[in-house]
Amino acid sequence: MAVSKREILDALKAVKEPELKQNIVDLGMVKAVEIAGPHARVTIALPTANLPMKDKLKNNVKETVKGIGGIEDVKVVVTPMTSEQRARILGQAPSEMEGMKGVKKVIAIASGKGGVGKTTVTVNLAIALSLQGHSVGILDADMHGPDIPIMLGIKERPVGSRGMLLPIEKYGLKIMSTGILAGQGDPIVWRGPLVNKAIKEFLGHVLWGNLDFLLVDLPPGTGDAPLTISTVVPLDGVLIVTTPQKVALADVRRSIGLFRGHDIPIIGIVENMSFLRLPGDPDGKVMDIFGSGGGEKIAKAFKLPLLGRIPLDPAIRSGGDTGRPVTLEANSEAVDVFKDIASRLVTYCSGPPAKGESS
Ligand SMILES: Nc1ncnc2c1ncn2[C@@H]1O[C@H](COP(=O)(O)OP(=O)(O)OP(=O)(O)O)[C@@H](O)[C@H]1O
Ligand SMILES: [Mg+2]
Repeated sequence: MAVSKREILDALKAVKEPELKQNIVDLGMVKAVEIAGPHARVTIALPTANLPMKDKLKNNVKETVKGIGGIEDVKVVVTPMTSEQRARILGQAPSEMEGMKGVKKVIAIASGKGGVGKTTVTVNLAIALSLQGHSVGILDADMHGPDIPIMLGIKERPVGSRGMLLPIEKYGLKIMSTGILAGQGDPIVWRGPLVNKAIKEFLGHVLWGNLDFLLVDLPPGTGDAPLTISTVVPLDGVLIVTTPQKVALADVRRSIGLFRGHDIPIIGIVENMSFLRLPGDPDGKVMDIFGSGGGEKIAKAFKLPLLGRIPLDPAIRSGGDTGRPVTLEANSEAVDVFKDIASRLVTYCSGPPAKGESS
């Protein structure tokens, strides 16, 4: 007799989500069960794309369904959860994730190498999103060089309330940073395991409240640091910042490989320091200080959208130095690009979830 969907769901109640230790059926993680004769296909929605022990979970599902008489082969497909579903599930998680409950979308800003403008993009994008009416928070997860407080002119330290930390509010944004915790100028020496623990502490103890977007300024590079953070923070997607020259692009390739290898959706490429518009030139001529076309090349090669090309602009640099991001000030070509990237991000986040990945 043919196997029914109910039989498969009943069997899957024996499979537990590794972190929450509850069965995946009751958690609503089994999105679809399809049966065609002796062939079964099970779609599992994951709360974070980079769920620890994901492969083990997939394997458990496979073996469990295979164990049902009448099923010969099983295909397990994983897909990211909708944010509503995730919020519901995290609501059942231990209090570790308590402070994140009201956060709708978590977007990380990453780069293959340092100094390409990740923090600059993070603060200006946050302001642009906020000007468009969204509630926005920033988590400065760059433990080795936390620049967010400097770029937003934050001097005060966060205050605690009943064991929770309240983010600092500036320009309508909510901000939490390792820099705020350590105090500017203090040496910060973080060792591998401490990074993980500190980020977990952050998320567990920061009362973000309701946020449309939480932007996470990741540490640069393609080592353990950015990944460690993505295993703890449930990311909805990553923006990758690059500069146009060849040497930067090799790092971007590695960075894309790193995130893709862990099923973290990449939203697109942001090319920074793309060109310099010559001041006073009547034709608005540009100079390609760092070469040109690099962002476009990478975007094409990896089938990713190029979300924007930000010009070199002294006002961007001084906005960073004075703690008043340029996007707060009057309009300019660079500010228009930041606003456009913000709109594209909103569109991405309101679109359909990424397609499932098959195994
Ligand atoms: N488009 C731009 N025009 C002018 N200056 C810029 C631009 N983008 C960034 N900068 C300046 O370049 C410097 C490096 O930028 P930023 O700190 O944002 O890079 P980062 O990738 O976050 O660096 P790190 O890897 O050290 O964290 C800063 O002084 C910033 O103000
Ligand atoms: Mg930075």
